[in-house]
Amino acid sequence: MPAAQTSTPTSAADVAEGLRAAGYLPGDSTALVAFLATKLGKPILVEGPAGVGKTELAKALARYLGRELVRLQCYEGLDEAKALYEWNYRKQLLRIQAQGGEAGWSEVQEDIFGEDFLLARPLMSAIASEQPVVLLIDEIDKTDQEFEAMLLEVLSDFQISIPELGRVESRTHPVVLLTSNNSRELTEALKRRCLYLWLDYPELEHELAIVRLHAPDLDGAIARRLVEVVGMVRELDLKKPPSIAESIDWARALLLLGARDIDSQVFTETLSVIVKHRTDMDLVAERVGVKLSATVDA
Ligand SMILES: Nc1ncnc2c1ncn2[C@@H]1O[C@H](COP(=O)(O)OP(=O)(O)O)[C@@H](O)[C@H]1O
Ligand SMILES: [Mg+2]
Repeated sequence: MPAAQTSTPTSAADVAEGLRAAGYLPGDSTALVAFLATKLGKPILVEGPAGVGKTELAKALARYLGRELVRLQCYEGLDEAKALYEWNYRKQLLRIQAQGGEAGWSEVQEDIFGEDFLLARPLMSAIASEQPVVLLIDEIDKTDQEFEAMLLEVLSDFQISIPELGRVESRTHPVVLLTSNNSRELTEALKRRCLYLWLDYPELEHELAIVRLHAPDLDGAIARRLVEVVGMVRELDLKKPPSIAESIDWARALLLLGARDIDSQVFTETLSVIVKHRTDMDLVAERVGVKLSATVDA
């Protein structure tokens, strides 16, 4: 029995509506690519700066499709044992000890290399799942190329070979999302296999809608001012421009502080919510802070 109500989209508009209902406001290409992915069975590679909604897209898709989300968080040095499966050595050892040397090696071996002694990691879980899942492979750019090659193999066959146990084939087809913050160029082979979605900082009206969704109690005029100011800040040459995540945080902070406007004083006081590098702060305070006091005086 399915765990939740599942949806099968029939158009991009369908997906857009479903994502909105799941608390995610997609751009046009986001809904289209997500729709195609569910139909063509291809993974989506989502690239873009940090904090623009890549991870959240996968979560929202899972909510909308009524599927479980299986997440593999990538990091430097991630290996197959942590991504695919590993043997539960401790349990194997206990079994060997429990048998107390009475059984022959071949018997023991047959025993301790069974499914009971296998620890399934995210890729394996997604492939072996009885119910179709959404598989999120988050921040793939943090791994090395060898890992990417292994992943390619898994994504092309949707099966994993375990020497001691045999082949595990996927029974259901997962919707796969890979995200990348672009810290290194991914291989052409991986890109070829995927549908591509570039997420950038959104247009003003789109970001305003997102901010209002996350901070519904913030006054509409202040929310609009906020996304305008964030837009100005992004135009400067910063080490780390504020993302949607920072806009949402700022909206919540202004709400908490009971701010009635974003004047240069409020701006200076709350600057550290949206800019997080010393040099960036100086630049923003100088350029945008000054502009804000000029508009107030005018
Ligand atoms: N289109 C959107 N609709 C609703 N919320 C969004 C959208 N895009 C981003 N967010 C919100 O912005 C924040 C950052 O998104 P996240 O997915 O963590 O970014 P990324 O994975 O790209 O670094 C989250 O709180 C997320 O809910
Ligand atoms: Mg993320």
